[in-house]
Amino acid sequence: MDAATITTPTVLILLGPPGAGKGTQARMLEEKFELVQLSTGDLLRAAVAAGTEAGKAAQAVMEAGDLVSDDIVIAILRDRMAEPDCAKGVILDGFPRTTIQAEALDELLAENNQKISAAISLEVEDAEMVIRISGRYTCAMCGEGYHDRFKTPAVEGKCDNCGSTEFKRRADDNAETVASRLSAYHAQTAPLIAYYDSQGVLKRTNAMGKIEDIARDLEAIAGDAMS
Ligand code: AP5
Repeated sequence: MDAATITTPTVLILLGPPGAGKGTQARMLEEKFELVQLSTGDLLRAAVAAGTEAGKAAQAVMEAGDLVSDDIVIAILRDRMAEPDCAKGVILDGFPRTTIQAEALDELLAENNQKISAAISLEVEDAEMVIRISGRYTCAMCGEGYHDRFKTPAVEGKCDNCGSTEFKRRADDNAETVASRLSAYHAQTAPLIAYYDSQGVLKRTNAMGKIEDIARDLEAIAGDAMS
């Protein structure tokens, strides 16, 4: 299915631990289906950079690898989903992460006569996540994601997407914080797999393979969910 045939607003959720490839795959789905990627991690990092009240409250929590409070995250997500570009459909990357957030999303969608098209669980082993996160970097200009081993720019030191030569690494991509992020995932987010299974919208995908192969699987799942 291509973008032209989508008739109702689509809501895809990408569930998965840190480093599972949610951001990488969300950007590919965004392009393929002309949906809007909403990453609560990106929204929170923008709030921190802008020095907003929410950003100030979130900064230390994020640096420790813990989850930011539900109230802050739900408010940020709700505001972003109200923007006009989201009317064409969204890919939620990193939200919801707790049962309270999942219930708030159900309410928000019900208010707008929308529903979840699919919640896709990206399944990856813990050891692989650590390797992926420790090698990750992004273009400082456009945010295109790269990895020291698995995804390098075609021309060394130059972003494939925008040509910038400046790159950055995230403050929370260090071994200590990754351990906290993984335990937060297992304790608070993994239970959402059963939550969405009970709603009949859960799809599982093996996210241990190559980026392109996983993208093909996700495109098929997303296409089915939108048909
Ligand atoms: P967030 O920004 O959401 O980070 P995360 O969930 O920890 O996920 P990541 O961005 O680290 O990983 P990803 O799955 O997107 O992987 P990626 O595609 O980059 O959250 C950060 C913090 O914000 C949280 O810790 C929390 O404090 C707070 N927060 C955010 N949302 C919140 C919420 N809803 N509630 C409360 N707090 C919240 O891939 C990783 C690397 O691997 C890349 O280099 C990529 O190129 C590479 N890669 C990807 N796929 C593959 C593959 N198949 N093979 C090899 N390499 C691959």
